Amino acid sequence: MDIKKKFDLSGKVAILTGASKGIGESMAHAFAQAGASVVVSSRKQEAVDEVATQINEQGGTANGVAANTGSIEELQKLVDITIDTYGAIDIIVNNAATNPVFGPVINTNEDVFDKIMNVNVKGPFELAKMAFPYMKKRGVGSIINISSIGGLSPEPFLGIYSVSKSALISLTKVIAKEWGPMGVRANVICPGLIKTKFSQALWSNEPIVDKMTKELPLPRIGQPDEMAGLALFLASDASSYCTGGVYTADGGYTI
Ligand SMILES: NC(=O)c1ccc[n+]([C@@H]2O[C@H](COP(=O)([O-])OP(=O)(O)OC[C@H]3O[C@@H](n4cnc5c(N)ncnc54)[C@H](OP(=O)(O)O)[C@@H]3O)[C@@H](O)[C@H]2O)c1
Repeated sequence: MDIKKKFDLSGKVAILTGASKGIGESMAHAFAQAGASVVVSSRKQEAVDEVATQINEQGGTANGVAANTGSIEELQKLVDITIDTYGAIDIIVNNAATNPVFGPVINTNEDVFDKIMNVNVKGPFELAKMAFPYMKKRGVGSIINISSIGGLSPEPFLGIYSVSKSALISLTKVIAKEWGPMGVRANVICPGLIKTKFSQALWSNEPIVDKMTKELPLPRIGQPDEMAGLALFLASDASSYCTGGVYTADGGYTI
């Protein structure tokens, strides 16, 4: 066995949503360093171009394609451009998410509910469906959905966001069961509190940070690049017998 070869992504094509910053950006760099051609996506073309340029300057292969995961048309464009550019899709990382509200669930109106579900659940499902025929054709594929510890047990004031992240876990298991016989694997990563723009309301709140980190076996907030190794494992042949798995990366928060 050649373990380095198992983690090698040479010849593979990966699409990552929400990859202009934070956790997604770290994963995009990791996949490119492991040899994959990487399609960096988020809503803003300028932001994804910046990350793609950095990857290319460091000797990797990447391009940036803007797509809002709440829009099926834009996701289709993302897939079409990827196929036109690289001719295949082997890895999808459904990482983009939204949470426009922080507070009691009673304050979540219908529009906000629909937005959260569209971006966090429907978009990942549609993107996986669009990629599936290409993965099936090669008899191999890896879908990685980025959920949250809130998807395992609801976090205070993150009610419908937590619901969406639970749905994403369930969706991953459904896909894993149905698409496994075609060689397509699906797994979930549930990060704990990671220092990114998304979670700023939490990590900039000292009482919350104190409470969380005091109780954590690894008593600190995580960094985005601490998610990249797990994603690389799940994207690569190193995890060839893993599907339907739910992997926490949370400093031990859920123990
Ligand atoms: N940070 C944490 O503590 C934490 C904990 C648990 C789970 N997570 C999960 O980890 C994932 C990444 O979060 P992060 O913390 O890395 O956030 P981040 O640093 O704020 O990055 C979010 C990324 O998503 C993009 N994005 C936002 N809305 C989008 C949309 N509708 N369509 C496409 N792209 C969109 C953003 O770029 P644009 O603005 O250019 O679109 C950006 O690239 C999310 O699924 C989040 O739920 C994070």
